[in-house]
Amino acid sequence: MLQPELIDTPGAMRAWSEAHRLAGRRVGFVPTMGALHDGHLALVDEAREHADVVVVSVFVNPLQFDVRADFDRYPRPIDDDLAACAAAGVDAVYAPTAGAMYPAGFQTHVEPGPLADRLEGEHRPGHFRGVTTVVTKLFAAVRPHVAVFGQKDAQQLAIIRRMTLDLDLGIEIVGLPTVREADGVAMSSRNRRLSPDQRRAAICVSQGLRAAERLLHDGTIDAPSLLAATTAVVDREALARLEHVALVDPDTLDPVDEVHATALLLIAAWFGEIRLIDNLLIRPR
Ligand code: PAJ
Repeated sequence: MLQPELIDTPGAMRAWSEAHRLAGRRVGFVPTMGALHDGHLALVDEAREHADVVVVSVFVNPLQFDVRADFDRYPRPIDDDLAACAAAGVDAVYAPTAGAMYPAGFQTHVEPGPLADRLEGEHRPGHFRGVTTVVTKLFAAVRPHVAVFGQKDAQQLAIIRRMTLDLDLGIEIVGLPTVREADGVAMSSRNRRLSPDQRRAAICVSQGLRAAERLLHDGTIDAPSLLAATTAVVDREALARLEHVALVDPDTLDPVDEVHATALLLIAAWFGEIRLIDNLLIRPR
């Protein structure tokens, strides 16, 4: 098995990418915070479809954590991640240190627009500004032709698409459907911090989404009823605390009152101190 090249500075990353570009290769990119699971690896497979060489970044970005403890406890199994990248045929792993990304004197940020103010943004102030800033920096180092993101983080995907257009970055953004465990739970690096009881309870999140989808398929299209269906499922689970559930337009993230076309149903819930998010694109039959 070929080991991916391990690169840890922006300059070395740019040089690697430049060499492949000069050789006429398309560079594909999958940004991650590590603790890789099959969801991340599906993004790698997708990147391969669109590019000749694939770069995975592994960087737990301090700028996008609004809660310090969540940053400190974020899993960092770098050896497992490198092995997973090798097995997946990744060509380069870009794993810069926080010092290389944010050296003393760093002060410039990428400010997202109103798409970042609602939903996740309301509950995690500054989160998306941290995401747009780091993704811009990663794009500048990796200089990809195409980058792949998960629909799991639907609002993040919408904001990155908007940013790429607004800043003329000229990078193709590809979105991939959420990869789930056999019981329906969306794969997430945070799942590994759940206790066995919490992990069992977490099923209520995707089940809540599916309950609303079933109701829609049975002909109910008004948002309050659909949202109530999701809420009821999560409220029945003693170990879950619902934070928010919303039904919005997938592109603008504006709330919808009735579902006539594809709509995005999003949820965030707490299991102890672990916060999980999930979403489903739903459409009337
Ligand atoms: P992270 O949470 O590691 O996710 C990296 C990418 O994997 C994101 O595009 C995310 O949507 C995708 N992903 C996560 N779980 C998935 C699943 N179950 N199915 C499909 N895709 C999934 O998102 C981030 O990191 C960071 O915000 C980042 C973009 C790297 C910037 O720091």
